[in-house]
Amino acid sequence: MKRILTGIQPSGTLHIGNYFGAMRPILDMQGRGEVFVFLADLHALTSLRDADAMRANVHEATVDFLACGLDPEKTVYWRQSDIPAHAELMWILSTLTPKPMLELAVSYKDKVEQGIAANAGLFTYPVLQAADILLYDSDVVPVGRDQRQHLEMTRDIAAKFNAAYGDTFKLPDAEISDEVAVVPGLDGRKMSKSYGNTLELFQDEKPMRKKVMSIVTDSTPLEAPKDPAGSNILALYRLVASPEQVARMEDDFRAGGIGYGDFKKRLFESLQEYFAPMRARRAEILARPGYVDEVLEEGARRARAIADATMDRVRSAVGLR
Ligand code: ADP
Ligand code: TRP
Repeated sequence: MKRILTGIQPSGTLHIGNYFGAMRPILDMQGRGEVFVFLADLHALTSLRDADAMRANVHEATVDFLACGLDPEKTVYWRQSDIPAHAELMWILSTLTPKPMLELAVSYKDKVEQGIAANAGLFTYPVLQAADILLYDSDVVPVGRDQRQHLEMTRDIAAKFNAAYGDTFKLPDAEISDEVAVVPGLDGRKMSKSYGNTLELFQDEKPMRKKVMSIVTDSTPLEAPKDPAGSNILALYRLVASPEQVARMEDDFRAGGIGYGDFKKRLFESLQEYFAPMRARRAEILARPGYVDEVLEEGARRARAIADATMDRVRSAVGLR
């Protein structure tokens, strides 16, 4: 059975762009192989310097994952920093990583351009990512297009290690999904926290309704036919409504005589319905004190067993024992 591994940065309140773009694809992997998912909190330190926010993000991400269908029996789920071997292996790999290779990293340049401090952690971010992947003998790493270069670096670093010290690491394959569509935000741009145009999965009904009603539309009058192709409302509706409901809304767009306010109400209702089971599950999880910590502990226990075995191999390969 293939081992599928991926890491996600715990980045705060979940919006439906994160859900459909990142979380859903991970949850859909469950059952396809042996799934390993971890919260990359050490990576998150490169851009978050607030201990309370870090703790809250890790907790919230775990609650959200469980609410949305993560099965901790099937999936090994842990917090990166619970396994110090991530950092130890990173150091060993960094002694084999050519500095010019890291200088080519697009993600580093992008982040510095966005104004994140150009510290050594940000610069060596791909080496930590390589350690994450190699530590667990991963076969497949499903990631977004922006991470392709990091996977190539991981394979490069693993090959350098194997050439220097003998066959130690499995070379993982990236799995780049092209079909994950970009979820539009309230203003039609990509939904993103940095644009302030998000719809949060787990917000209360009232603010959710208010946000849906504020979706930006064109000024086609109520009675006129409307174009379904470019509509933001429909793009979101397609994610949460049944095919019949979507077809009906498309017909109603073309027919004219119905205003955008009405379409937004339908979208709001479908959103409520779609996420209702996850909300209910979330409430159950929040009502069980200690449950999140138990899940993280059990995940760390399972991850540690594999990480320890890899580190035994690595330490004896390089002569640290
Ligand atoms: P944000 O842009 O809100 O800061 P992040 O950069 O933290 O979101 O994204 C976390 C994950 O969610 C990434 O894997 C990203 O690809 C996915 N994601 C974020 N926004 C969207 C979107 N609008 N459509 C599809 N996927 C998204
Ligand atoms: N760099 C990834 C991102 O920003 C997160 C990540 C860290 C990761 N380590 C990983 C993804 C290992 C896959 C495998 O999305």
